[in-house]
Amino acid sequence: MKLSIQAFGVDFQNPVLLAAGTCGFGMELVDVLDIEALGGFVTKSITLEARLGNPAPRVAEFESGMINSVGLANPGLARARSEKLPWIAANVRRAKVLVSVAGHTVEEYFQLIEGLDEADGFAGFEINLSCPNDARRDGVPFALDLDAVSKIIAGCRERTGRPISAKLAPNDPRLPQTIKRAEEAGANAITLVNTAPGLLLDPDSGQARLGQGAGGVSGPALFPMGIRAVKEARAVSSLPILGVGGVLSVSDAVAYRRVGADLIQMGTATFAAPRAAEDLISGLMRWGKESDVCSWSELGRMEDLEA
Ligand SMILES: Cc1cc2nc3c(=O)[nH]c(=O)nc-3n(C[C@H](O)[C@H](O)[C@H](O)COP(=O)(O)O)c2cc1C
Repeated sequence: MKLSIQAFGVDFQNPVLLAAGTCGFGMELVDVLDIEALGGFVTKSITLEARLGNPAPRVAEFESGMINSVGLANPGLARARSEKLPWIAANVRRAKVLVSVAGHTVEEYFQLIEGLDEADGFAGFEINLSCPNDARRDGVPFALDLDAVSKIIAGCRERTGRPISAKLAPNDPRLPQTIKRAEEAGANAITLVNTAPGLLLDPDSGQARLGQGAGGVSGPALFPMGIRAVKEARAVSSLPILGVGGVLSVSDAVAYRRVGADLIQMGTATFAAPRAAEDLISGLMRWGKESDVCSWSELGRMEDLEA
């Protein structure tokens, strides 16, 4: 099956990307997988200041996934620009890179875009509006505030000619409206979904299993939420969609495609199996051959199948 696909003006050699926060800035991966075999990856979200992150433990596993409260630990704008992006520019060619940014205020997003836009070596921005682990703003992510979504995306749009994808939340009761706001403000794509808010307790002590208390749920438990969100998004928008949440297998990726995702991101699955994304790419090729599907681009969407 031909896996290449064009989305928001960028040619991807295949639709499989690593999700933000699960692959650092790429350099962390060189010993464990062939980055250049991927469709691409999204960097850890960059904040204005360097952040050490939340108290340990920051991740905990449970039967159907994991919960994390990393707290956007990252080197901050200045070091991302001087160390991380130059490495990407020098070492990543075929895989396409989206740089993720996360502000604590609307203006911080603009400073991040202004501070990063001149760097080379990346295809576009993913605007993280939906981190559930940020204690500021009383834990309410920008993605759940329609006016903030409009302002942030419009301001980012003014400051860069590169494509931007708005990364939204799974627990958004007004998701179609949020998507419309992002689209009207100039987003070129939508990434769905970020982790869902959750809490795990130790059964013996009754204490939270994460140092921070609550966190974001990822992995298989998130899959049905991701699928629903992408289907809802596709019903109201023709923008490219990056589908993320609980992708483990070929059938998960195909399910995202059928509800309307153009690209797929994988995160949690790569913690247990660092080469999971490469395996997914070869699995998709084999599946295409066996199922007589000749290209990912043309792989039937649900509405086509239902027709
Ligand atoms: C440890 C960890 C750190 C994450 N950090 C970020 C981040 O910095 N920015 C972001 O937009 N999403 C972040 N995410 C969310 C992932 O990008 C993804 O949306 C989510 O994990 C669902 O995909 P998955 O089920 O394949 O892991 C993080 C997820 C995990 C597990």
